[in-house]
Amino acid sequence: MRTYKYLSLIVILAMALTACGGGAAATQKQIKVAILAPLSGAQPTFGTSTRDGALLAIDEWNAKGGVLGAQIVPVVEDSQCKADAAVNAANKVINQDKVHYIVGEVCSSASIPVSEIADANKVVQISPTSTNPSVTVDANGNVKPYVFRACFIDPFQGTVGAKFALGTLKAKTAFIMEDQSNDYVKGLATYFKQAFIAGGGKIVGDESYTGKDTDFSAIIAKISAAQPDIVYLPDYYNVVNLVTAQAKQAGIKATFMGGDGWDSSSLDTKSADGGYYTNHYSPDDPSPAVQNFLKAYGAKYKDDKGNPEKPDALAALAYDATNILLTSIKNAGVDDSTKVRDAMAAINFTGVSGNVTYDKDHNPVKSAVILAVRNNKVEYDTTVNP
Ligand code: PHE
Repeated sequence: MRTYKYLSLIVILAMALTACGGGAAATQKQIKVAILAPLSGAQPTFGTSTRDGALLAIDEWNAKGGVLGAQIVPVVEDSQCKADAAVNAANKVINQDKVHYIVGEVCSSASIPVSEIADANKVVQISPTSTNPSVTVDANGNVKPYVFRACFIDPFQGTVGAKFALGTLKAKTAFIMEDQSNDYVKGLATYFKQAFIAGGGKIVGDESYTGKDTDFSAIIAKISAAQPDIVYLPDYYNVVNLVTAQAKQAGIKATFMGGDGWDSSSLDTKSADGGYYTNHYSPDDPSPAVQNFLKAYGAKYKDDKGNPEKPDALAALAYDATNILLTSIKNAGVDDSTKVRDAMAAINFTGVSGNVTYDKDHNPVKSAVILAVRNNKVEYDTTVNP
């Protein structure tokens, strides 16, 4: 009798505990955030930095209790900076993981097709770094309601580069190199040309190549003959490394310039020495926002030797983009992508890479920095306001 009593007590206790535990787990709310980043492919540093910046923001929110009482669960996918891989990743996170929110992609050629899928599924997408105008605006010039970005756009970036070339570097002539199959490269080359010509400069050569090319000797021979002051090469660091190494070998003296695509810990600063590029942020900025971010990032991420990692612009923008998203969810007060979209459109947010309020095309108006490749490293040169 006694044993039976105790047994039943134990059973009841066990049931109560399970119920409690089960109940707690069931009511433990989660909000998933997809991070689409190129972890493999030709630009792997873009992916690592983007993932790490986004995860740092998510960790900080979770440490303070998450958002709307829910834990934030990252769903990281390798989207390779390629349209097809990014489309597969977007379909997977939307259809299988049922996410309502995407941070990504990095590269414009991948973010553009993802934006169509996100918008059609009413999934809020914020690209940290894709600067081509077509990411947020469709072919008819209408904004995609669910799509945003955390960075400035290329008409601004190209103009800043051209004005710097004409004004500070006193360039009169420029030679353009462009990969016509890359939306970002093609767009930025066009905006630079327009601004350079409008400012009185002359284009003395404009040559195309493809993303698969590794031998640039034919174009370099043309640069050698044209003797431009500037070679504008608005491509990603892996292409910049190849071209500048071969140009150095061939004795080219022109100043190489480019855009944010140069920003990588794998940029070959020896070959690109003497070059300049436009970017979103510099870790040398003494402002508290930047310095606090550097501290938090370095505390979480270490290099092979155990030294704190220095975040690049991709890490800073992924951190900002994730914070913009989570703040918008908080401001909306509900995990409803349409309400979050409206909250995002109305946000006034101060991040590491500057202040963000959205114009009608969901683009923030932000300043750019010019970085110089000098003394075997990348140094801050100037800030240019819009
Ligand atoms: N702006 C580039 C694009 O649109 C991506 C990029 C941003 C790369 C910042 C490096 C640094 O494709």
